[in-house]
Amino acid sequence: MPTVDLVSRYPELVWELRTSGAVVGRLEALDGETVWISSIVILPDKRGHGYASLLLDAVLAHFPDITIGLAANPLPSPKGGLDRGQLQAWYGRHGFAPAPMRGDPHRMIRLPS
Ligand SMILES: CC(C)(COP(=O)(O)OP(=O)(O)OC[C@H]1O[C@@H](n2cnc3c(N)ncnc32)[C@H](O)[C@@H]1OP(=O)(O)O)[C@@H](O)C(=O)NCCC(=O)NCCS
Repeated sequence: MPTVDLVSRYPELVWELRTSGAVVGRLEALDGETVWISSIVILPDKRGHGYASLLLDAVLAHFPDITIGLAANPLPSPKGGLDRGQLQAWYGRHGFAPAPMRGDPHRMIRLPS
């Protein structure tokens, strides 16, 4: 059964997802008036099992009253991962809407529920 733990607090927030005791995923964010998710990464050989969705949902549940932002931009990864279109669609299914800004065309935000 995967677990999600907050391992670093304000202002840099870090959550780790573990399965069988081993860290397989990590989400980093910056706390503030808006919470900014700076990265979410699952180990290449653990992808496609729903771990990123589990991790994202666990983190979103912490912030029902806060605007959350991110850049839907894939990080370079040796074994690939979701591409930009897949990332945007995924974040869209989790309540994020495109909010491009000059200098940050892939910005998306999720307003408080
Ligand atoms: C992005 C990343 C974290 C996803 O991890 P993952 O554990 O494979 O993702 P999941 O299995 O939880 O799937 C996430 C979503 O993408 C969908 N998905 C998974 N594989 C897919 C594929 N090949 N095509 C389309 N959609 C796909 C899933 O259905 C899921 O959507 P849902 O929650 O609406 O059902 C992983 O690819 C990664 O670490 N990439 C490198 C780092 C990166 O680019 N991070 C994002 C920017 S910071």
